[in-house]
Amino acid sequence: MQLPDKVKIVEMGPRDGLQNEAETVPCGVKVELIDRLTATGLQFIEAGSFVSPKWVPQMADSADVMAGIARKPGVVYSVLTPNMKGFEAAVAADADEVAIFGAASEAFSKKNINCSIEESLARFEPVCAAASERGLPVRGYVSTVLDCPYEGPIAAEATARVAKRLHDMGCHEISLGDTIGRGTPRRAQAMIEAVARDIPIERIAVHFHDTYGQALANILAVMEMGVALVDASVAGLGGCPYAKGASGNVATEDVLYMLDGLGIETGIDLGALLDVADFIAAQLGRPPASKVARALAGRNAA
Ligand code: HMG
Ligand code: MG
Repeated sequence: MQLPDKVKIVEMGPRDGLQNEAETVPCGVKVELIDRLTATGLQFIEAGSFVSPKWVPQMADSADVMAGIARKPGVVYSVLTPNMKGFEAAVAADADEVAIFGAASEAFSKKNINCSIEESLARFEPVCAAASERGLPVRGYVSTVLDCPYEGPIAAEATARVAKRLHDMGCHEISLGDTIGRGTPRRAQAMIEAVARDIPIERIAVHFHDTYGQALANILAVMEMGVALVDASVAGLGGCPYAKGASGNVATEDVLYMLDGLGIETGIDLGALLDVADFIAAQLGRPPASKVARALAGRNAA
């Protein structure tokens, strides 16, 4: 089995992880979460989201979160920006990277960002242009790359089309989201194969939600194709408010345990990450969703 030597993990916990929580998570907890994640060796952390507070109230304090965190030099703190209003807020917050987010399915695009795929791409163009002027890197997400909660299975070509448009616009990295976590390994591989016809494999990231417990299998399957960028969320937090029933991203500690076992370098400390999973789980009043955190619960007891 041919696998990458190094994998870049992009931590989703503070954004994807917390955007769907029913109870408001205080700003101070978000700041502490990000600072603790920084201390684990993670180098890419999605810290918040400059979207409409009416649509996603949990992310309404992203400016305060960005102002509160202790930034470690070299670590990239990124935020979601669906339009120019979001972009301007991201610049004011001194984000290191911005992310635009589209979808492969029309119905999901409408539900999540209130416009068609084509309209969304037209909105993203000025964001990419403005980011490029400032030298800010842009990440591009495609949601519902395998299945849509409203339309069902999505053709790999539909995903590839949107991914290519985001790449052509200047996104340095395209993150492919299995938003509802229904994908299985062969389908994931077929989708990556279609996307990789237009986009270099080293620019393709995967973003698996783990609703059906397939995320690690899918990640390993696409790593065999050369994918080395993986989105994950500490304690398996997360979900999308506009994809009912979808559970969190694959847990960062589960991904890390697998990568450590495969001898693949990430620069992240598993023990430290498990402590962060315990911290945020305690704040949310439920155990971490990850297998590894559960298996190693109580590890710090004397
Ligand atoms: P809209 O209602 O069509 O927008 O929403 P609008 O331009 O007509 O503006 C309506 C109001 O929102 C106005 O305020 C604007 O100022 C305000 P009002 O005059 O009514 O007081 N507004 C904003 N406020 C703050 N920041 C902004 C902003 N833009 C407009 N950036 C919009 C369109 C895109 C804004 C809305 O649909 C939205 O915010 N959607 C975000 C949904 C979201 O965040 N979903 C979760 C993230 S995506 C995800 O989780 C998937 C991912 O993880 C990958 C995967 O798993 O697949 C990335
Ligand atoms: Mg997501």
